[in-house]
Formats: sequence, C-alpha cells, structure tokens
Amino acid sequence: ALERTLSIIKPDAVAKNVIGEIYSRFEKAGLKVAAAKMKQLSRAEAEGFYAVHRERPFFNALVEFMISGPVMIQVLEGEGAVLKNRELMGATNPKEAAAGTIRADFADSIDANAVHGSDAAETAAVEIAYFFPSTDVYAR
Ligand code: CMP
Repeated sequence: ALERTLSIIKPDAVAKNVIGEIYSRFEKAGLKVAAAKMKQLSRAEAEGFYAVHRERPFFNALVEFMISGPVMIQVLEGEGAVLKNRELMGATNPKEAAAGTIRADFADSIDANAVHGSDAAETAAVEIAYFFPSTDVYAR
C-alpha cells in the first residue's frame, strides 16, 4: 500500500554532512520526500517525541543526543514506505546492521545511529503529526 513514514537524520549524520547521501538512498529506493525541515529540537520536543521510551534506561542519553545539534526531519512516501525505510536504515545497533545499510555506513553507536524511522504505519501517523501540520505534507 502507498504509505508515509517519518524519518529523522540525527545530529551525528547531520554533523558528518551526509544528508544528501542519505536522501539519495531514499530516492533510489523509490521513496519520495513529501515534507522536510531542519530543526534544533528543544528538550521538551525530544522528550515528547520519544515519550514511549520514557521508562527505558537509555532515555536521558537519547534525549541529550537528539538535542546535541540540528536534525533533518522528513516524511517519506511510497509503496510500503515504513518497511522500506527500515530496510534502508538497518538494525538499531550499527554493529548488527547489514552491510550497505545507512546505519552500517554512517552510524557510530546505538545512540549515535544516524537515523530514526517509524516502526509501523500507526506510529508513523502519530510521528508525522508531531512535526508537520497536514497542510505541510505534500502528496508525491
Ligand atoms: P530510534 O529508532 O531513534 O529509537 C529510539 C532510540 O534509542 C534508538 O533509535 C537508539 O538510537 C536509542 N537507543 C539507545 N539504546 C537503545 C537500546 N538498548 N534499545 C533501543 N534503542 C536504543
């Protein structure tokens, strides 16, 4: 089905200057950018975005990392966009990420892991609405 998913290029990958290389992977896989913005997240914004992880031991480190520099946030649209993006990203821990995936190529650690992607269509809808009013998401 035609889907949308939320993607974030995290502060480590923005700092490495690989936004374009990562966008190129999305495009080559048939995912279209339907919305995009660069943003320095506030602590409250990062905590709200990752609210489902609030009780996890890594929550504070995750929030600190996500506010350590600007992120690039985009909505990707395409057939099976949620799973397709997750395949492009590779495993959360870059040590476990398959060769040729974004995390294998650009991530340094499970915290600084280059990208975030929604894990299901339902979470994608919530995550997209968290950052983009529906009028700022363009059908592609
Ligand atoms: P992300 O897909 O953005 O969702 C939550 C993030 O928490 C995850 O990527 C990792 O960067 C980070 N994280 C740190 N430690 C863990 C862990 N043990 N399990 C899952 N995510 C973790």
